[in-house]
Amino acid sequence: MATPLAPEADWIRVRVSGKINLALRVGAVRPNGYHPLATVFQSVSLFDEVGVRWDEPGRFTVSVAGDQADLVPSDGNNLAVKAAKLLADHYGPHRLGAEITIRKTIPVAGGMAGGSADAAGALLACSVLWDLDTSPDDLRGFGAKLGADVPFQLMGGTAFGTGRGDQLVPVLSRGSYHWVLALSEDELSTPAVFRRFDEFNPEAPDDLPLPNEVMNALVAGDAVALGDALINDLEPAAASMRPGLVRVLETGRELGALGAVVSGAGPTCAFLAANEAAAVDLSVQLSSEGLCRAVRRVTGPVPGARLITA
Ligand code: C5P
Repeated sequence: MATPLAPEADWIRVRVSGKINLALRVGAVRPNGYHPLATVFQSVSLFDEVGVRWDEPGRFTVSVAGDQADLVPSDGNNLAVKAAKLLADHYGPHRLGAEITIRKTIPVAGGMAGGSADAAGALLACSVLWDLDTSPDDLRGFGAKLGADVPFQLMGGTAFGTGRGDQLVPVLSRGSYHWVLALSEDELSTPAVFRRFDEFNPEAPDDLPLPNEVMNALVAGDAVALGDALINDLEPAAASMRPGLVRVLETGRELGALGAVVSGAGPTCAFLAANEAAAVDLSVQLSSEGLCRAVRRVTGPVPGARLITA
């Protein structure tokens, strides 16, 4: 007699990572509401897990567990559901359906593209579940329709992004970097931070400076130079909306970080440590300052969306 398949065998699971921006240069808002960017992304080892299994045609559900799960929409507004529907609409509108689960550790609305990571995970997982004939390029194309960060969240590693941040080329990066992340008590709305950036920068340039210092430091594998080169044009806007961020950044620097930067639109702050031992020290001391919700120690670069095999 054949053994019935364990329920776990019905599921396709994908691991997705958070990102930080090592450089984020921002230009003047365009008529479509987006800002041109010149950014260097790095994926770091803070992971969400996205699982999918077949559901009735046209039925798409999501359940969310883990850190801050209550802050994530569990209806059609969830970006992973939108991702599954986008693929289904393209490949089999009356044939495909999915039950989605998300386990979160990437902070919600924290500037680490957690929602985009979950969308990237759903795209990859559904394409495998439904046995679709999609290439990585196809998936990145679908991803760009869902959000500016989704293509990078599919790809992972270290990449230079232009356009809305969705035109990507891999960046040569030597070595592994040790980061300490300060997770904030509350969230920041990305569109609101960009609007504040517009108020602060009515003359933002069209020609964005290339983040050459960051790229050179990565090629050399030079953590000290990278710490000096970290830059984020959204930082003043984010800090004006969460004044406590200035203190968090200063504290990390005083405690010996090689560099400190707000990640993306914030409010997560990223501190570069010289090595693993320095990262352990920094994370313990930063925790004891009580300035943030939680402190996480991560490394980067790590891969983007990847299937979890049994
Ligand atoms: O693409 P995504 O939906 O993730 O972007 C969220 C918001 O962030 C956009 O609606 C826009 O307000 C802002 N944004 C921007 N310029 C970018 C990326 C995002 O203004 N390059």
